[in-house]
Amino acid sequence: METLFSGIQPSGIPTIGNYIGALKQFTDIQDEYDCYFCIVDQHAITVPQDRLKLRKQTRQLAAIYLASGLNPDKVTLFIQSEVPAHAQAGWMLTTISSIGELERMTQFKDKASKQNDGIPAGLLTYPPLMAADIVLYNTNIVPVGEDQKQHMELTRNLVERFNSRYNDILTKPEVKMPKVGGRVMSLQDPTRKMSKSDDNQKNFISLLDEPRLAAKKIRSAVTDSDGIIKFDKENKPGISNLLTIYSSLTDETIEALEAKYADSGYGQFKGDLAEIVEQFLTDFQEKYNQFYESEELDEILDNGRDKAQFVANKTLTKMERAMGLGRKRKR
Ligand code: TYM
Repeated sequence: METLFSGIQPSGIPTIGNYIGALKQFTDIQDEYDCYFCIVDQHAITVPQDRLKLRKQTRQLAAIYLASGLNPDKVTLFIQSEVPAHAQAGWMLTTISSIGELERMTQFKDKASKQNDGIPAGLLTYPPLMAADIVLYNTNIVPVGEDQKQHMELTRNLVERFNSRYNDILTKPEVKMPKVGGRVMSLQDPTRKMSKSDDNQKNFISLLDEPRLAAKKIRSAVTDSDGIIKFDKENKPGISNLLTIYSSLTDETIEALEAKYADSGYGQFKGDLAEIVEQFLTDFQEKYNQFYESEELDEILDNGRDKAQFVANKTLTKMERAMGLGRKRKR
């Protein structure tokens, strides 16, 4: 069985964009792979975080992974900082990354431009840590949203570089993106990505938003004024985004939705989607609450940590040997 790895930062509560771009994919294909899902808290601290909030969001994210439908008996769910091999392998891959290629990452440029107090060096060296997350598990496939494409290309380059410079031990991963919903957009500005760390609450729907409030956000989402329900990303980004959300949550194709609403106005369409989102969140949060409060959640994370550590340490040792770290005993 091939191996799958993916991660989400606990830098906020995941949005419906994270669900559609990532979590839903995970659940849909979990039976086909040996799956590792990581709460990447060491990535989150590449920008300043409040200590207590980060802790809470880490546990919340664990419960969110499970509420999305991951089977804890099958998949390995764990917290990055509890498996030290990530930081260790991340450092090794940092040493083979060039400053130029790291500076070219659009996410680095984006996030760096928002820092007023100096740019944390970790923002720059984030991609080799992400590459380490992936290679430690001999990962074949990484399901992510579109915004991670550039980081994945760099990961593949680093794997090639490591293998050709040292020893051919790392697996080169393939990236997998959803057919629909790889980039869910902001509700108020549909030319920008929906993001969990957005300051304006109206731009995104968090998976823990009060369902009625979320429905309201859908009804007041920005759309154009021509009244036709048609997917056209360029000229109708607002309606196209809502069609994407609708299609992902119901598994109806965009074409089928266009046909269904051919004679309806935006009011009807948005009203229906608002109800779908409200129902989805109500069901989701019921499952979430059960996991969040449970002791089972800690057991799942303990087991996940142990299993991840076992696999990761094996790869780490191979990497250290290949790079000549440590010593060889005389006897
Ligand atoms: P993060 O935490 O920003 O996002 C988690 C996942 O959600 C996807 N995503 C979206 N998909 C559709 N529409 C959106 N608006 C949207 N916003 C986010 C992301 O593409 C991602 O799949 N660097 C990663 C975390 C990471 C990782 C890894 C991922 C660290 N190590 C190893 C895969 C493998 C990140 O910041 O994701």
